[in-house]
Amino acid sequence: MKVISVVGARPQFVKLAPIAHAAAAAGVEHVIVHTGQHYDPMLSDVFFEDLGIPAPDVHLGVGSGSHGVQTGAMLGALDGVFDEHQPDWVLVYGDTNSTIAAALSAVKLHFPVAHLEAGLRSFNRRMPEEHNRVLTDHAADLLLAPTDVAAQHLAAEGLGDKTVVVGDVMTDVLFTTRDAVAGAPSKLVAELGLTPGEFSVATIHRADNTDDPARLAEVVAGLSALDHPVVLLAHPRVAARAASAGIQLTTGSLIEHAPLAYPDLIAAVLASRGVVTDSGGLQKEAFLLRVPATTVRTETEWVETIDLGWNVLANTSDEIAAAVARPRPAETDAAPYGDGHAADRVVAELLAHGD
Ligand code: UD1
Repeated sequence: MKVISVVGARPQFVKLAPIAHAAAAAGVEHVIVHTGQHYDPMLSDVFFEDLGIPAPDVHLGVGSGSHGVQTGAMLGALDGVFDEHQPDWVLVYGDTNSTIAAALSAVKLHFPVAHLEAGLRSFNRRMPEEHNRVLTDHAADLLLAPTDVAAQHLAAEGLGDKTVVVGDVMTDVLFTTRDAVAGAPSKLVAELGLTPGEFSVATIHRADNTDDPARLAEVVAGLSALDHPVVLLAHPRVAARAASAGIQLTTGSLIEHAPLAYPDLIAAVLASRGVVTDSGGLQKEAFLLRVPATTVRTETEWVETIDLGWNVLANTSDEIAAAVARPRPAETDAAPYGDGHAADRVVAELLAHGD
């Protein structure tokens, strides 16, 4: 059995880690293709090093561009890669431009496609990720859903017979990393002289929050007005947009900092009082670490975090301040994202549906 994983953006490297380990344990031949969508070392290389992922077998070096230019460059390059390797499965991850490019190239060449993290929906058609995930689900042959809610979305779209609930692979790597960093001091806390439990960790990178200068200014104003230090781990997109709009990211309570390696991020979140983010991954990681999250979006795909009280949607300065100041939610042992062994199930499903 030969599986090609196509990845390109930071969250996909995190999801790839447990898959690479499970594939190796099952004796599956696993070819890793990196599209090059993310190329900064702190968005790419450090994840391969820290999470023990083998170096990519193929690197397309596509880089940044408008959606069409970036996706088209990947499409053009992937045809030849799939043709050369003749995979039994092409495994695509999440909802980025790398996901849709790989799914489209593979189905047109008649290679079976499995979509990891299938069925998530924001129902917000302004998000490029929503188009990427819907189109990928409808192109794919096997839909690996992380949650029951995701499986229900797929059933409602007529895709129920291709769907299997496997759990969330990000939970696998999160639990492993949490246990590895447990008890170790956070590098971020030491570097910035923070007091554990008295600062927030923030990330903002969605186009809807960054690309309109007025909206970015509003989000920055909301974060900088909070009554405790807020460390903004600035993705290159927000750093670039803030610079071109003349917006300072270190202002008031807000402290701009470069993105962190994965173990350092988990240690920082564990030491924090809460997370403020528009990242899909981080709001869920916060819940799994039982750290309250405030999500700067009008909706979320990870509705379980909201239903359980560990995540609150907030958009204006006042909403952000109120959400961050809310009391700690009721403790819960609910496990909507699985048991930390989703990747083994993914590989088992690929083997069961292969040939
Ligand atoms: C992409 C995904 C998003 C995911 C995010 C995780 C799409 C449509 N979006 O968004 O779903 O949550 O990754 O981080 O695929 N840049 C750099 N260095 C890099 C990469 C990007 O400087 O290594 C800058 C460039 O200015 C680039 C911009 O960031 O134009 C946006 O990068 P891009 O990969 O297009 O989208 P992300 O915002 O990272």
